[in-house]
Order: sequence, then structure tokens, then C-alpha cells
Amino acid sequence: MSYFIGLDVGTTGAKALIIDQDGRVLGSATTAYEMSTPRPLWAEQNPEDWWNASKISFRRLLGDSGIRNQDVRGLGLTGQMHGLVLLDEKGNILRPCIMWNDQRTIDECREMTDKAGFERLLRITGNPVLPGFTAPKILWVGKNEPEIYKQIAHILLPKDYIRYRLTGEFATDVSDASGTSLLDVNQRNWSGEILSLVNIRSEWLPKVYESPFITGKVTSEAASMTLLCEGTPVVGGGGDQAAGAVGTGTVRQGITSVVLGTSGVVFTHTDKLKIEPEGRLHAFCHAVPGTWHLMGVTLAAAGSFRWFRDVLGDTEISLARHTGQDAYEILTREASLAERGSEGLLFLPYLSGERTPYPDPDAKGTFLGLTLRHSKPHLVRSVLEGVAFSLRDCLELNRSMGINAGQIRLSGGGARSSLWRQILADVFNSEIVTLTSTEGAPYGAALLAAVGTGEFNTVEEACDRCLAAADYIEPDAEGVKVYEDYYGIYKEMYPMLKNTFKTISRTVNKEFHSKTKN
Ligand code: XUL
Repeated sequence: MSYFIGLDVGTTGAKALIIDQDGRVLGSATTAYEMSTPRPLWAEQNPEDWWNASKISFRRLLGDSGIRNQDVRGLGLTGQMHGLVLLDEKGNILRPCIMWNDQRTIDECREMTDKAGFERLLRITGNPVLPGFTAPKILWVGKNEPEIYKQIAHILLPKDYIRYRLTGEFATDVSDASGTSLLDVNQRNWSGEILSLVNIRSEWLPKVYESPFITGKVTSEAASMTLLCEGTPVVGGGGDQAAGAVGTGTVRQGITSVVLGTSGVVFTHTDKLKIEPEGRLHAFCHAVPGTWHLMGVTLAAAGSFRWFRDVLGDTEISLARHTGQDAYEILTREASLAERGSEGLLFLPYLSGERTPYPDPDAKGTFLGLTLRHSKPHLVRSVLEGVAFSLRDCLELNRSMGINAGQIRLSGGGARSSLWRQILADVFNSEIVTLTSTEGAPYGAALLAAVGTGEFNTVEEACDRCLAAADYIEPDAEGVKVYEDYYGIYKEMYPMLKNTFKTISRTVNKEFHSKTKN
């Protein structure tokens, strides 16, 4: 028997998962770590924490599954995208990673856009420069931490730091590299033109591989720390979204993946590079060699629900603790008591700013329409509905480019809720399919490892052999009608509030700076 491991260096933890050659999941282990927000709009993590968590997850995975490590034929990496990891020439970490959801680089984005020109950036990198992306973070460090900038010898993305610790190699894959604003997405390699415009040295950057290609092998030192076998091949893998799309078989035109994870994503496979003229959808290389994808991102999707649970769900959390239930399930049951449309209570899920369709770090979460009649079930339901409307915005952008979403495959933690699944089917007015494998990104990374080490000839073949539909959710005619009305109102909200969001940000920043000065 052959086995393959996928490791996901996620936002909340490192998850290792093992599959056999038929794609059956035989075990998984997750080790959590913290994120720090030292200032408003900032989000950082320590790459050493990822490595420590990854080591524990590998050891637990191999220890618990009882699978001999020499039968593991390959390892695929995936993880949170866009994060900036800086190393000096000895490979030491220079500062905490500036993460994908960090929004500090508005000025640097403007600077880079002025230098390169919006059209040129779009043509070469497929996207406008957004605050979450990697390049503006490098410029930010240059401006604000010159002592650190001077010592930069290597720039890596989060999962590629773990690759470095596992194999000693500096490498990345095309899908993750697409989120840096430094990749020529057409050529599928770093853009010399963009690098020289922003004074980023090409030797700082890792070598770019197609996702299923082998990038290195586990060293003896890493083997002793992880229980992995020395010499296990490590393939390129993919950014969490591209790997997640492989995990749902979104590897052909006519299939769209919708992910209800911390962030929410609408992801469409394209055989040719397609760029949304205003850059409102991300155009990235896919983990399927020679193909691309379009992606709309709701920054706080299940993240909005988590925020709600943590801030307003004390009762449910303690009930869950006492009864052995899940707090999300209790909250979802409450939500199902409210009617569709939450009696006119609408929620904008912009708790971390937004990317699609409004790339605006100042956008804020909002409840609109509160009355005395509203109670907790309405609040919870409107959060679930607001996230669904935001994902519908992404889908509409696809439609505006003439792309038919085709079959919609739903995954991510939020997909466990049957209420949320139905809300999505109604808001999209489309059938939704869930799959037997619900593991998303680490599963996709394990499949990429199986392709790269010869178990399957292509990514498509791996998906065809390993994935099957679990459930089909049909839209409900009445629900579609109700949500069409509320989506109309939802669409009016951001344009109305846009300037107010900016004023709030300015005021909060002013207060923060005057406090930190005193
Ligand atoms: C994708 C994105 C998120 C992060 C964290 O562009 O920002 O998916 O990778 O999950």
C-alpha cells in the first residue's frame, strides 16, 4: 500500500492528514497556534510556531495511524497564502510573519500601483496590488524596519517556510506565488519587470514549481524531528485555495468551488488566463499545471460566525461545554428559528476589511435594520445570510465575465451546517454539491503528492479516482424569491457606507496614535 500526506499550515493551526492510494483518509492531526494583532489592522504569526505545530502534527499523525513512515511515498504542502516570511542568510527568522489578513500596507499598495501602473500590474500579475498580498509588505518593511530589510536574504510564503525546514530547499509553487504581486501569471514565473520596479532582488525569492512537481526531500534532521522518513519527496503543493480546489475536484472548466472557511472563496477553474478588467476577481495560476483560476474572496466568512460565537455566544459555549455539543450547532439551531431574511436584519461581513467585490481594507462589519423585534436567532441568521450574499457577489462577478459557474461544490468548516448550505443554495439559486471528502486543502495537497510521485498521471485523474458526491442541495423556490429581495438591499449597503467606513478608520487610527504617543 502507498500513502500520501498533506500538511496545511493554516491560520489557526497546522493540520497533517494521511490518505491511501485510493484517496481514503486514514487519519489527521491538528496542532493550534496563536495569531497576534499588535495594532488595529495588523495580523502576525511566528513561523517557528508553525514549525513546532507541524512537527507535533506529523508525529501524532504517524504515531496514531500506525502507518510505517517508509510507506509514505510523498508529502504535499499547502497553507495560508500571501504571508511574508523573511530570513537572513543563515536562515534565521527576521521578524514575525505579516499575514494574509493584515491590512497595514494601504500606502505601499498605492505607491506600487503608481510606479507600475494599474493596467500593467493587471496584465502581468493578473491582479491589482492588495494590502493582503506579499509585495507591499516587503515595501512596508523597507520603509518602517530598515534594519531588518538590510538583512533579508530569503523571502518565503508560510507553507514554504515549512518546506525549508523539512528539505532545506527554497521553493514555492505557482498558485501560492500568484498571491505575491510579483509573479508573471502568464509565464508562471517571477516577473523581472515588477521586481526591478520595486527593488526586490530575484535571488531573495524561492524557485517556482508547478504544484505536483517534486521540490526536495525530507532531510535526516527533519526526519528525526517529525517521524517522517528521510528522503520522502515533498511536492510543490499549493496555496490553500488552489489545493482546496484540488481537494474538491475543481480541476476542470464547468466546476466552481465555494469554500466556507475562515475566509470564504468562490473559485472557478479556467483553461486560459482570464483577467477581470477591473481586477475585482483574483486571476491566479492553478495547481493543475498549465491552467489558471478566478477567485473572489470574502475575508471573514466562517470567520464572521466564529467572531459571533466568541463575542456573543457565551451561553452557547457554556451549554456546549456542559452537554458535549458543538456551540456552532447550538447557534445554528437558534438561527433556524428566525425566518428567511431575518426580518429585515442585514449583515455586512467585512470584519477584516474586504477583497471582493470591494477591495477595501477600511470596510467594516455592519448590522443594519435592527428593531425591537430582533433577538439572537435573527442576529445569528443574518450573519449566515450576509456571508452568503457576499459569496453571491463573487459569483455575480464570474457571471459578468461570461463564466458559467457550472456545478457548485461546497467545502470548508461552514459546510457542515445544513442550514447554511440551504441558505447558500437559495441565495445562489443553484444546486450545491458536497463531497465525501470534506478535508479541502490538506486533502488536495496529499493528492498533489500522489500525482507528483507517480501514483496518478494527472491531477484530474487523481480527483476522478478519489472523489465522490455526498449530497445534493436544491434551491427552494420560496427561499430564492425572498433572498433575491434581500440581496437587492444588501447590494445597496456598501456603497452607502463606504465613506463612513473611511471616517471610522481615520478616527480610530488618530485615537490609537495619540494614545501610543502618550
Ligand atoms: C486567499 C486568502 C486566504 C488565505 C487564508 O487569497 O487570502 O485563503 O490564504 O486562508
